[in-house]
Amino acid sequence: MSKKNVLVTGGAGYIGSHAVKKLIENGDNPIILDNFSTGNKWALQDCEFFDCDLLDNNKLKGIFAKNSFDYVMHFAGKSLVGESVQKPSLYYENNVSGSINLLNACIDSDIDKIIFSSSAAVYGDPKSELINENHQTKPKNPYGQSKLFIEKILEDAFIAYGVSSISFRYFNAAGADPLGTIGEFHEPETHLIPNVIMKLISQKNSKKLKIFGDTYQTKDGTCVRDYIHVNDIASAHIKAFDFLDKNSKSHIFNLGNGSGFSVLEVINTVKNKLNLNKISYEIAPPRNGDPAVLVADSAKANSLLNWNPNNSNIENIINDAINWHRSNNL
Ligand code: UFG
Repeated sequence: MSKKNVLVTGGAGYIGSHAVKKLIENGDNPIILDNFSTGNKWALQDCEFFDCDLLDNNKLKGIFAKNSFDYVMHFAGKSLVGESVQKPSLYYENNVSGSINLLNACIDSDIDKIIFSSSAAVYGDPKSELINENHQTKPKNPYGQSKLFIEKILEDAFIAYGVSSISFRYFNAAGADPLGTIGEFHEPETHLIPNVIMKLISQKNSKKLKIFGDTYQTKDGTCVRDYIHVNDIASAHIKAFDFLDKNSKSHIFNLGNGSGFSVLEVINTVKNKLNLNKISYEIAPPRNGDPAVLVADSAKANSLLNWNPNNSNIENIINDAINWHRSNNL
């Protein structure tokens, strides 16, 4: 197939907008569907878009009736671990019900290839140093549980309706497009890397940087995460087309870089990049729902998709994130 029509839900969001940019670079035709609840109009790339909530079934069906899509990339959803602990219904409704509506629309329109944004949050506390796709799934928060439900729904959808899918379990998406035109921006920002950068390079963030917990069983007591460059996540989605065309089924792949960095290591890397002598932070209580360590084994994506996290060196991720924050005066 030459130029592919790809519906991208959440295409105005952080990861979705980077995927849209990659699709355009790849010569494909992305069509964005977003309700702009957390996505941003400025992140829209040069392509068609629909302002639509996945919970608005009538509007959704109307869009599917009038357009033809070869694939669906499903990024839309709520994605904050802490918020999900406080507002589980919001997560189950938006993520699970929204995904069911989308799946039904696909089935009605004979669209049988879906690429879904799942999360490392499905695993819970790791039983091994590196987590592969066969690791037990015991989410510690409603966000991870909502993603696990959707994976299961997609598995059943292949058996019942022949809809093939890839669920990509992202580890910690970070960084920004190196050109600085799109990057990570949430309001309020809760993610570690943008929080540290904003704290250190702009005066707008007056609150003291908090480290959530320093007594975890990790190298320095702070949580360890596997940071993966957002453009590496986007490129895996491009590789997914060919794989899905040749392998009808529901599949699961981790997307991580295989190295864990603690909160303190991230803070120090940003500090060094900015040539600062010292920074101030406070130790706050652990955040509910946070596993101590999450680091990926992504050998499956490497061998079956020929995917490599080429941009995911932590220094590179932080350089691109700093560049994005500086060029947008955030
Ligand atoms: N953290 C701080 N201070 C902050 C922000 C974060 O100490 O100001 C800590 C968190 O407690 C956590 C680590 O930094 O230990 C990373 O936190 P993030 O909020 O950046 O990311 P999460 O690990 O909570 O979650 C992210 C995505 C999820 C995804 C998960 C997968 O937001 O969608 O990665 O690993 F599921």
